[in-house]
Amino acid sequence: MITFRFASCCLAESKALSLAFFIASEQPFSKELEEVSRRYFPALEAYLKQVDFSGQQGKVAPIAISVNGQPKTIFCVGLGKINKHNKIDIEQFRRACGSLVRAMQSRKIDACSLDLPAATLFGQSDYYVAEQMVISASMAAYRFDDFISDQKNKVRKELSIDCCVSAHANRQELEDGIAHGSIIAQAINKVRHWVDTPPSRLTPAMLAGYAQDVANEFGLKATVFGEKEIVAMGMGGLGAVSAGSHEDCKLAILEYRTAKNDAPTIAFVGKGITFDSGGLSIKPATAMETMKDDMAGAAAVIGAMQVLAQFKPDVNIIALMPTSENLPSGTATKPGDVIRFYNGKTAEVKNTDAEGRLILADALAYAVKHYKPDAMIDIATLTGACSYALGPFFTGLMTQHDDMAQRIEKAAQLTGDRVWRLPMDNDFKAAVRADVADLCNSGNAKYRAGAITAAFFLQAFVDETPWAHLDIAGSAFAVPDISYYDTGATGAGMRLLVALAMNWTKTK
Ligand code: BES
Ligand code: MN
Ligand code: ZN
Repeated sequence: MITFRFASCCLAESKALSLAFFIASEQPFSKELEEVSRRYFPALEAYLKQVDFSGQQGKVAPIAISVNGQPKTIFCVGLGKINKHNKIDIEQFRRACGSLVRAMQSRKIDACSLDLPAATLFGQSDYYVAEQMVISASMAAYRFDDFISDQKNKVRKELSIDCCVSAHANRQELEDGIAHGSIIAQAINKVRHWVDTPPSRLTPAMLAGYAQDVANEFGLKATVFGEKEIVAMGMGGLGAVSAGSHEDCKLAILEYRTAKNDAPTIAFVGKGITFDSGGLSIKPATAMETMKDDMAGAAAVIGAMQVLAQFKPDVNIIALMPTSENLPSGTATKPGDVIRFYNGKTAEVKNTDAEGRLILADALAYAVKHYKPDAMIDIATLTGACSYALGPFFTGLMTQHDDMAQRIEKAAQLTGDRVWRLPMDNDFKAAVRADVADLCNSGNAKYRAGAITAAFFLQAFVDETPWAHLDIAGSAFAVPDISYYDTGATGAGMRLLVALAMNWTKTK
């Protein structure tokens, strides 16, 4: 993790190994940078021209200087172009923070003093800018290196960054932003670590155990049902998916209760398939390579609960994580089998690889029956179709409730955890009808849109509850080109769920 502190300016006097300055495209130097340049490197402006650095997004110009006989690095970090409102988009700042951290890591520099741009440059509050800096920088520092045995091949993840702020800045807001940002950053990197962990080292029992640990550490109520209870309760979906595996499936439930009376209750439901082979409808080898990530929805929900337990919003939140392996074996569910869910509905399992909706169905039905939530959001690596439709940068959002869509889009915009809405038009409903049961688990090919037909399957289990579905199949893993992500897990949806709950009772 990164330790952030405030330092009094000026940067020219800083003892840190490196200094960092953010520069927007074609914009003049800040006062601090001018002073550093005047004292240590008068040719700085000409040098930056020479190396073609003019503040481009994603670009970092490292400059080695000597201060009192000691080496020091100046990082000039590009913020990119100013937008039509004459501001810098906060996402450009997130990426610039990520680029800076990566530049530090690749040079084995673990400390830096940075010139924090004024929040007005982004048209935002000091609180928000500090929070987003901490989150994006900390996310950039993350690596999954548990199994890298050669120390030389590991990057430094423990960094320290001192922020020099202008006299006009609100110190209390900055402190709060750093504190809150750190809580979010710690949780999201924990989520990413779970998702990146190899599938035989993170079984359903272990995932449920991690949910339990979060509850113990942060004061939430936890309940974990095992496979015997799950089957006895009539959760035929979760039971059917788990039938081929030696591992016990689990349903983990975390509850956060606000002290406020008459507060609304929101339910989060996260898909927790710790490995998806496809089952008897087995996947081709290459499609299976990243299927350890199929519990990213459940992980995002547990991470969000860890944050919300500390932030304490004025809403009750129930988190449900159905978790299982999906494997073929002599005891596995077969294509053509018919199963019965917790709410009594039945489905023909035409394709055992459409397993996510089967475990979510039971959890959604359980949440509706036992908690009667005012709103419900599920999050799942549900369909390859969604990943192909939207690509890696957007989570698919499906809902028939415009109010839910607006709330989620607002949270996405605030956090940079982006969503794109797909049409949940009732014309698609017929795609999940079956001849021999109430539903069929694989959408009829005539209707093509696999992400949407999957959502209609889930809809059969939410009754009248306002509900939205987030498909993170494309956004949870291996998102390219974004400086604060790495090759593996992104933590998609976690920041979004936190912002959604925090803003729930605020008027729009
Ligand atoms: N876990 C997969 C979806 C997925 C694909 C996630 C790629 C991440 C990356 C899911 O269980 C699945 O296999 N879905 C099938 C559904 C089909 C059989 C109806 C799919 O998308 O092919
Ligand atoms: Mn599958
Ligand atoms: Zn799956």
